[in-house]
Amino acid sequence: MPKKVLIQLDCDPQPSTFDAIVAVDAGADVLLRHGGVTPENVVPLVHGGMFTRGGPDLAATAIFVGGADVAAADAVAETVRKTFFGPVRLGVLVDPAGANTTAAAAVIAAGRHVALERASATPCRAVVLGATGPVGGRVARLLAALGCRVAIVSRSRERAADLAAGIAAQLPAAAARIEPIEHHSSGCLPGSAFAQAIAGAEVVIAAGAAGATLLDEAGCRSAASARVIIDLNAVPPAGIEGVTPVDKARSEGGTIRYGALGIGGTKMKIHKAAVARIFADPTAFLGTAEVFAIGAALDAAT
Ligand SMILES: NC(=O)c1ccc[n+]([C@@H]2O[C@H](COP(=O)([O-])OP(=O)(O)OC[C@H]3O[C@@H](n4cnc5c(N)ncnc54)[C@H](OP(=O)(O)O)[C@@H]3O)[C@@H](O)[C@H]2O)c1
Repeated sequence: MPKKVLIQLDCDPQPSTFDAIVAVDAGADVLLRHGGVTPENVVPLVHGGMFTRGGPDLAATAIFVGGADVAAADAVAETVRKTFFGPVRLGVLVDPAGANTTAAAAVIAAGRHVALERASATPCRAVVLGATGPVGGRVARLLAALGCRVAIVSRSRERAADLAAGIAAQLPAAAARIEPIEHHSSGCLPGSAFAQAIAGAEVVIAAGAAGATLLDEAGCRSAASARVIIDLNAVPPAGIEGVTPVDKARSEGGTIRYGALGIGGTKMKIHKAAVARIFADPTAFLGTAEVFAIGAALDAAT
C-alpha cells in the first residue's frame, strides 16, 4: 500500500497548520503543503498528483483545499474540479476557514434536539445570526436544504438579501422559506422583524465574528420557543450572552445550549472522517452538503 499523500492547497500565504495536523491525525502519511494557491497556479499542482501514481495506487493521493478567504478557496476548488478528467481524479475535501465542517457540526447538534426535517406545512423555524459569514451562510443553506424556515440576520439588508438570493438560486424550493433580516444591535426591539423571528425560533445559531455579541441576555430570554441555542464564537465576549464556549447540550430553562468548544468536538470528528473519505474514494468531492452527510452518518452511528 503506498503512503497516503495529502496535497494541501491553501489560499493563504502560509498553509494552515491546523488543517495539516488534523490531516496527520486522520491518517495522512505525507503532506505536500502549498500556500498562496490561486486558480491561476493550481493546475500544475493537481496534475502532479494525478499523473504520478496509476491504477489503485492513485487513491492514496488526495487534495485538501483551505484558507481564510473562502471565496478564493472556492474558486481554487472549482479549478481543481475542472482539471480532472475521466477516471484520473483524486478525492477532494474543501473546508476553507473550517466553514464546512463547523457548519455541519452546528446543524447536526441542533438536529439532535429538534426535528429539522418535517412536513412542509410545519417547518422548523430557525434564526441564523451572523449569517453572511462563511460559517453562517453554510449553516443557513444546510437548514434551508433540510426544509427549515430560516431567518438570516445581518447588519446589512443588502448582504442578507444577497445571501437569501444565493440560497434560493441553489435551492429554489426553499426560496419562500428564507427571510433576510437587517439588525444592528445585540438587543431585541419589541415588534421588530428580528424580535418576531427570535420569539418564534426553535433553533438559534450565532455565527458572528469572533468576539462580537449578537444577542444579549434579554434577547436570549425572549427566544421563548427556542429548543436549541448555539453560539459558535469562542472569543469573549460571547456571541449569545448566557452561552459559554464549553456548553455542550447544557440545559437551561428548557433550552439546550452549545458553545464553540461544545461544537468543536463534533467538528473535529467530521473533519477527520472527511479526510479519511477522500483517501477511500477518489471520486469524492466534498463540499458543504457532502461534509454534512458524512457528519450526519457519523452522528447516527453513535
Ligand atoms: N467552533 C469551531 O470549531 C469554529 C470553527 C470555525 C469558526 N468558528 C467561529 O464561527 C464564527 C463564524 O465564523 P466566520 O468565519 O463565518 O465569521 P466572520 O466571517 O468573521 O463573521 C461572520 C459575520 O459576523 C458579522 N459581524 C462581523 N463583525 C461584527 C460585529 N462587530 N458585530 C456584529 N456582527 C458582526 C458579519 O455579518 P454582517 O456584517 O453581515 O452583519 C460577518 O459576516 C466565528 O466566531 C468563528 O470564530 C468556530
